[in-house]
Amino acid sequence: MLSETTRAKILELIQKYPHKRTALIPVLYVVQAELGHISEPAMTAVGELFGLSPAEVKEVVTFYTMFYRAPVGKHVLQVCTNISCMLCRAEEILDYLKTKLGIAVGETTPDGKFTLLEVECMGACEAAPAMQDNYDYHFHMTKEKIDRLLEILR
Ligand code: FES
Repeated sequence: MLSETTRAKILELIQKYPHKRTALIPVLYVVQAELGHISEPAMTAVGELFGLSPAEVKEVVTFYTMFYRAPVGKHVLQVCTNISCMLCRAEEILDYLKTKLGIAVGETTPDGKFTLLEVECMGACEAAPAMQDNYDYHFHMTKEKIDRLLEILR
């Protein structure tokens, strides 16, 4: 399930934390970096490394939107539609992306390049409407900015 390199990275990470369990989130990032998402078998494998049940690992994976439980595209576009962004037309931004990409929220384009997600507050309320392309933030989004972003990412 997990490569030797990933297992070594995980063991190294665990050593850095005073309590093994506190390394769970960084370890899940490492697993996701290798597999692209965190499947049920991956949750079991991680649980074995931590002495946790698959359900305990799943509790964490399902709580955070940055962990994907199914394969995603090369670029995961996450649009915040929480209160500050909603007041700054986040729905328009989301609808524009749906139209431009030809997919609904939760779907991936047929070429595997983009996955579109709607997420809760990403801590960038002062720059609403905000979105992310993988781990990169984009602020004060407009249709023009989306056009430029997609052009760069394509
Ligand atoms: S409400 Fe969108 S970033 Fe906070």
